[in-house]
Amino acid sequence: MFNSIIVGLGKYLPDNIVTNADLEKIMDTSNEWIIERTGIEQRRHIKKGDGNSTASMGVQAAKIALERADIDSKEIDLIVFATLSPDYYMPGSGVLVQEGLNIPDCPALDIRAQCSGFVYGLSTADQFIKTGMYKNILVIGSEFQSGGIDLTTRGRDVSVIFGDGAGAAVLTRSEDNSKGIISSHLHSQGKYAEELSMIGPNTRRWVPEIISDNDSEDMSYYPNMNGPLVFKSAVKRFEEVINEGLKKTGWKSDDIDLLIPHQANLRISQFIQRKFGLNDNQVFNNIQKYGNTTAASIPIALTEAWEQGKVLSGKKIVLAAFGAGFTWGSVMINW
Ligand code: ACO
Repeated sequence: MFNSIIVGLGKYLPDNIVTNADLEKIMDTSNEWIIERTGIEQRRHIKKGDGNSTASMGVQAAKIALERADIDSKEIDLIVFATLSPDYYMPGSGVLVQEGLNIPDCPALDIRAQCSGFVYGLSTADQFIKTGMYKNILVIGSEFQSGGIDLTTRGRDVSVIFGDGAGAAVLTRSEDNSKGIISSHLHSQGKYAEELSMIGPNTRRWVPEIISDNDSEDMSYYPNMNGPLVFKSAVKRFEEVINEGLKKTGWKSDDIDLLIPHQANLRISQFIQRKFGLNDNQVFNNIQKYGNTTAASIPIALTEAWEQGKVLSGKKIVLAAFGAGFTWGSVMINW
């Protein structure tokens, strides 16, 4: 069996910065409320017509990751693309990224595990590398949230949280079994599927009905979130799945050099930090600058941590996520 090591990381954020003060101008909210509840100070939103899409941001992040890996896009054996905001209902965005990178015919797989998408993607890629089926795999998380959220007072509980962006990682095969992804742990619980969801369009009310209703008050096209339940479930599942990884690897929480939690909400990250008794240098957060970019949040944060010199050979890195589904997971990496 081989191990998977990450040899290149990249991120792409649209230029347009939207501060809490900008949101105050378009809805009834306040900088204080947003910072107190979520820690978010600003996020990036694609500007209509600026050429960005979920797939194109993924391509930009992937190009940087490939360059840093010194691997040509033609050497990629599989693309794993995680998003909850695909360019089209069908086909998935993975094939659009493949086309954007000029890769002729490698398989492209879309992952629909929302905020846990990148962790699910890494774990999936790891299985293909372990067995020897593929050598080089591109795993991408990308989200274009801003076009699909209700940026009025009606949708403020959700819309102040989310931002746009993409992150990518190039995985390759290593014969050193002590390096790279040591273990990954995935879970889901469909019981809470509708507690964090975007229901429309769906097959219970399909296209002809949607068109004939043409109902501007239909909120099913916007994300819906049971905030308190999400908070309670997230802190419980983050703790469980990090502990699962620690048990499997034999690491103690003290051994963690860097925990990169999905950037859901700064309060959730701080809760986890306290639970594991970690200091500020052991937990990486950048939600303050980018908001919650769902499947893109971990690869953006991992890339930024790497750019800041916090992800070095021999470091024990823990990635952990929780999101809609509910889904949750962790990946333990000996860098
Ligand atoms: N600005 C100002 N006021 C607001 C806003 C806003 N953006 N949104 C809601 N409010 C109001 C509500 O209307 C309510 O007013 P009322 O008391 O007059 O009815 C008040 O603020 C409190 O609302 P609650 O929903 O009770 O606020 P709560 O303290 O529960 O905080 C929050 C809401 C921040 C969403 C919280 O439940 C939370 O942190 N949940 C976790 C959800 C989360 O982080 N999700 C991340 C995305 S999902 C993921 O990545 C896994």
